[in-house]
Amino acid sequence: MHDRTMIRVPDLDDFSGSAEENINAGQIDIEKQHLYMEQIRDRNDMYFAEKNRKRTYEVRNFGCQMNEHDAEKLRGMLHEMGYVPNQDEVPDLIVFNTCCVRENAEEKVYGHIGALKSLKRDKEDMIIAVCGCMTEQEHVVQEIRKKYENVDLVFGTHNLHRFPELLHKCIFTNTRVFEISNTDGEVVEGVPVLRDSDFKAWVTIMYGCNNFCSYCIVPYVRGRERSRAVCDILAEVVELDKAGIKEITLLGQNVNSYGHDRRDGVDFATLLKLICDSTSIPRIRFMTSHPKDLSDELIEVMANNERICRHLHLPVQSGSTRILEKMNRKYTKEKYLELVKKVKERIPGIALSTDIIVGFPGETEEDFNETLSVVEEVRFDSAFTFIYSKRTGTPAARFEDQIPEEVAKERFNRLLELQNSISREINESYVGRNVEVLVEGLSRTNDKKYTGRTEGNKVVNFDRMDENIDLSGRIVTVRIDSAQTWSLNGTLVNSKN
Ligand code: 5AD
Ligand code: SF4
Repeated sequence: MHDRTMIRVPDLDDFSGSAEENINAGQIDIEKQHLYMEQIRDRNDMYFAEKNRKRTYEVRNFGCQMNEHDAEKLRGMLHEMGYVPNQDEVPDLIVFNTCCVRENAEEKVYGHIGALKSLKRDKEDMIIAVCGCMTEQEHVVQEIRKKYENVDLVFGTHNLHRFPELLHKCIFTNTRVFEISNTDGEVVEGVPVLRDSDFKAWVTIMYGCNNFCSYCIVPYVRGRERSRAVCDILAEVVELDKAGIKEITLLGQNVNSYGHDRRDGVDFATLLKLICDSTSIPRIRFMTSHPKDLSDELIEVMANNERICRHLHLPVQSGSTRILEKMNRKYTKEKYLELVKKVKERIPGIALSTDIIVGFPGETEEDFNETLSVVEEVRFDSAFTFIYSKRTGTPAARFEDQIPEEVAKERFNRLLELQNSISREINESYVGRNVEVLVEGLSRTNDKKYTGRTEGNKVVNFDRMDENIDLSGRIVTVRIDSAQTWSLNGTLVNSKN
């Protein structure tokens, strides 16, 4: 077991030079973007003076938390440019922030854009922009260019911060604008952000991925790993703390390799400790952790800091060592199980979640049974389960032994059934216990109930007692009365916090 003193916690002054390392072409560009934002804002102000109506926008987001946070940046820029969120009319500008991790995510986007063709005929000056992971693929850009003439602006993940300039070009030259940067991208600080929540915040700590799991398109569309400077991350979390944020989630494709590309010697465990020490934010989460890089130091930092949520998302992907090798995951079934054992021993009661792919090329019934056995042994609180989707350009797309859809679907259903029964059993063990819940707001389906999450990320619903008090954003104690597969129901015990 590692002693917590083994973690070298550098002095904050150690990082005073880090911001300079960050000054790159993108960073210089950001100054220019503010000028473009001003010019578009002036144009929108004039429109308002003339029509007594503000230009409106909608951002349609697809995919992961990283994209959710990018969507907050898009909204931040749009606000600076004088656009307001669309209420119930046809917006003046729609931005699709896309995902390409699985084929159905791409199909959805094409469906949405196609459906806007007639709308655009009726409202010619409406602008449709498409950005995000999908547009980092050449064949997608070609498809949009040829088949979706209603799309005015296309940009990628590496040049998101250049949105104002590209939109400016689109508006003032009245042409279609396509700009996909094929560089690996840079870390650009200072992009305006309009956060979705007043009490929960995403904080990106690194961009890109170096792992090249053989099924995954992410390294091709998000580029190589780039970590943000420690001083920039700390400045952001301190601000969030001052603003009263109750929960932050540190984001990266593989947070455990944070800092490997920097020279200041701060790894993820140290960063997490620094964040705990420099803020009083009650809940600190992170995702995603690659099992091959999860260090003993990280487990220690989690064990020693109660404000780090007792929850770990640790994608296993498959329980078969043979398939894990073909997936280029760099761990075996045994190594994964050992890691889980270590985590559970050191952090009792920790909730574990995972990602699993079924139907990976060459997966036999035996391999699949290995996956089921890992699920039974670990007893994950929850699992995101996916049917393998062939992604052009990845090594696995070229593997010969692709699995028929019906076989994959049948395995998927069996896996789901097993995981659901485990999730339900774990949830039932909460009945009668008191849990701390960060209240997210009223339930979408029942305004007499609140909904929130435990530190283990379980959804808890409970009755709203007093209509004059809004508990949103508060951490309250709830006694659990009953359990379902995906949620718990309880009664408010106290709302002191
Ligand atoms: N097919 C199915 N699932 C995939 N994932 C990534 N690529 C694919 C693919 N080609 C899943 C992995 C990953 C999660 C974000 O998406 O399980 O952890
Ligand atoms: Fe994809 Fe693997 Fe990187 Fe995760 S770690 S983003 S699954 S390549």
